[in-house]
Amino acid sequence: LKPEDVVKKVLKKIRPSREERKLMKEVSEKVVSTAREILSVYGAEPMMCGSVAKNTWIKPELDLFMLFNPMLPRKKLEEYGLRAAKEIIKKLGGSYTISYAEHPYVRGVIKFRDRQFSLDVVPCYKTDPRNIKSAVDRTPHHVRYVKERIKGLEDDARLLKKFCAARGCYGADVKTKGFSGYLCELLVIKYGRFLDVLKEITKWWPGVVITLETRPARKFRDPLVFIDPVDPKRNVAAAVSAETMMKLIKEAKRFFEHPSEAFFETEYVPPYTVEEVSKLVSSRGTRFYLIRFPRPVVQEDILYQQMERLLKRLGDEITRSGFSLMGSLFWCRTADCVVLLEAEVWQLPRIKKQTGPDIFSDHAREFLKRYSNTRVFIENGKWVAEVRREHILLMEFLKSFFSGKELRKRGVPSKLAEPISKKCEIASGRDSFRLLRKLPPELRSELRKYFEKDLNIEV
Ligand code: UTP
Ligand code: MN
Ligand code: MN
Repeated sequence: LKPEDVVKKVLKKIRPSREERKLMKEVSEKVVSTAREILSVYGAEPMMCGSVAKNTWIKPELDLFMLFNPMLPRKKLEEYGLRAAKEIIKKLGGSYTISYAEHPYVRGVIKFRDRQFSLDVVPCYKTDPRNIKSAVDRTPHHVRYVKERIKGLEDDARLLKKFCAARGCYGADVKTKGFSGYLCELLVIKYGRFLDVLKEITKWWPGVVITLETRPARKFRDPLVFIDPVDPKRNVAAAVSAETMMKLIKEAKRFFEHPSEAFFETEYVPPYTVEEVSKLVSSRGTRFYLIRFPRPVVQEDILYQQMERLLKRLGDEITRSGFSLMGSLFWCRTADCVVLLEAEVWQLPRIKKQTGPDIFSDHAREFLKRYSNTRVFIENGKWVAEVRREHILLMEFLKSFFSGKELRKRGVPSKLAEPISKKCEIASGRDSFRLLRKLPPELRSELRKYFEKDLNIEV
């Protein structure tokens, strides 16, 4: 199969039909007119944003923005925004939940002609793109920019979004650290047809800077930089991690090697069996640790951010204590948060050498005083003390790290400290495999991804 043939086949599946597009247009118009009436009371106006406004949508989801007067104080924007959004969804006969991004917004589900549509209702300020007051104020400008330039390339944006999604690279959320819808659209505006975009992607390398008509207004340290044509101080690809970037480069290369529709479908990652995990760990000669505590009720982005911080903090402390990790991962898809550690060094001698000042240094006296109860000697012109370690087993260290009331002081993030203090199981070796058996198989799929991850593109 040639790449062109694959693309044709995929498009047949993902491209909305004439009827679907008509239906989307009607529901979109109904939403906007309903909103216009309600918003007039608040001195605000509605604007359909997101992929529906740009005709790059794949799934039935609408993003309605409410543009408020920039003189309105932030608190009022949030209050009016929430109230108006609820009224709009109620008037449309839908139901809603409140979500939190930079400021609260409403996620609704509405019915239209017996079909369900998700509807995000987001408040923002109606401002100039260079004087934005909140992060989402750029969105209406993004929409106008894309709408004016994407004519004829809408399906290419759909293909790129679908390819990214299937490869696990779509979404600027903390978990995915990937490509937003807007970034996909800009790539299509920059490089044209889907296959041309994908070809360009195979040539990327961290540090690549892409621009449309505007020069970068500053330096960026992100692996991928796409200067926002609406605001050159901003990198549209700021959320893209080096890992996601390399993953997409690799998938793009693989696609051209063996073009297939499968690239546009999420692949099922078969979970490892517990035996496979245990065999792998023993053949690698590492040791396995599993920590489990209840999942706090908190916005997903916040949870992932805090889990990442916990892992970073834990890793640093583990290294500081003389142990070391081969790798780690976390998983919080169910009622539990799970941390998995693969240790490289988990056992240490009772003693360690504490290297002190140079023998000529004046600080040496303080050092000798401080270590007056231990053996002290000179090595390579420096004072060295032999001291006892606090923990000689990583297991002891972990038990002490995850216990007690000092969690916050130890750097455990705010939302995690409470559930950890309530109940925290720590297991290693055989016990950790026993616990792993009781947890959902998806966790063992994550373990396959962890052990089989390979981002090398030079193959
Ligand atoms: P979407 O994530 O819905 O992207 O955000 P999209 O371009 O419509 O693409 P798909 O087809 O749905 O995947 C649309 C806009 O809504 C704002 C962002 O500013 C984005 O540009 N948004 C998104 C929020 O305000 N909060 C969110 O949590 C998500
Ligand atoms: Mn959307
Ligand atoms: Mn949305």
